[in-house]
Amino acid sequence: MSLSAQFVAAYGRAPTATASVPGRVNLIGEHTDYNGGAVLPAAIERKIDIALAPNGSSTTSIQSTRFNGRIERPTGDPKRNEWTDYAMGALWKADALGWLSGGVDLLIESNVPDGAGVSSSAALITAILRAAAETANVKADPVDVAKHARAVENEYIGMPCGIMDQLAVGLASPGSALALNTQDLSFEVIDIPAGWSFAVIHSGVRRELADGRYKARFEECQSAADALETDTLCLLDSAQQDAMEALPDPLKKRARHVTSEHLRTVQATAAMKASDLEAFARLMNESHRSYAEDFEASTPEIDALIADAVDSGARGARLTGGGFGGCIVVLLESQLEADWIGAFLDRHPGTWQV
Ligand code: GLA
Repeated sequence: MSLSAQFVAAYGRAPTATASVPGRVNLIGEHTDYNGGAVLPAAIERKIDIALAPNGSSTTSIQSTRFNGRIERPTGDPKRNEWTDYAMGALWKADALGWLSGGVDLLIESNVPDGAGVSSSAALITAILRAAAETANVKADPVDVAKHARAVENEYIGMPCGIMDQLAVGLASPGSALALNTQDLSFEVIDIPAGWSFAVIHSGVRRELADGRYKARFEECQSAADALETDTLCLLDSAQQDAMEALPDPLKKRARHVTSEHLRTVQATAAMKASDLEAFARLMNESHRSYAEDFEASTPEIDALIADAVDSGARGARLTGGGFGGCIVVLLESQLEADWIGAFLDRHPGTWQV
């Protein structure tokens, strides 16, 4: 049954709009997006579909095809640390924009895992904002929608993320990567070269961005940037680089990760354009090392998975997303993909392919 038909079955009338938004995997460029640096995410095949309609009351009803029952929350309800916060935050923003006010009936269908580092929250918020704009007959620019979606995370959820996820899920489609400059929001869509396969594998270690460790890293980057008198920690001049070397740890290590990660991302983008798999894979491996050692955002279990991935024939492997758990992304030669993934999952119970 289509989502619209399920909506009719659930709420007794047609939705005013539907929207479909994919999750994303970040190929390289971690924690660079709020430091003025480069990122290179790609859309994944999994997606979130939503259908909604205003209901004329002051209560919002949220139903997911994954669970039985309906969650009802009053309009304007502040966050409660539940998954429905992302929907309530998006509706709070839609109301502020004049796109949708009052209570809303919402139906969500998703196969994007949450707590996995593949941007389920950005996809849900973006889908709701898009459908809200359509309900209001507003032609919303995708970059503006991404900015609004980020504001939901920053202001309603209290998660100080950058803009990578919102732009990636809003602009990318499977099969290509989005080379994004987060300083001026310019971007380029790059086809993933023939013969390259990126596999996304859940480590089995769940993560919550709201658990405080992402924010701690964000604040360390802010402190390093303040000490170096810059807004863009990724883009230091040579005097600032010298000053960075004199920062106390952990600020020096955090700054070293984001500056080197920015350069690796720029080089990886060039390598992808040139179909240079060896260079791209090397940069992924260096990125993981920096993320684990300087940014200290990995875990021993994930480091062991990355080491085994590379030892068993993956060309490149790294932890993807905000850190501390979730998915790894692995670069494989396409002809080896199916066998390699099957053997890897067998060797590591608890992991699964996203
Ligand atoms: C999360 C955030 C992004 C970005 C990544 C790390 O996904 O939402 O803004 O900072 O972590 O690269």
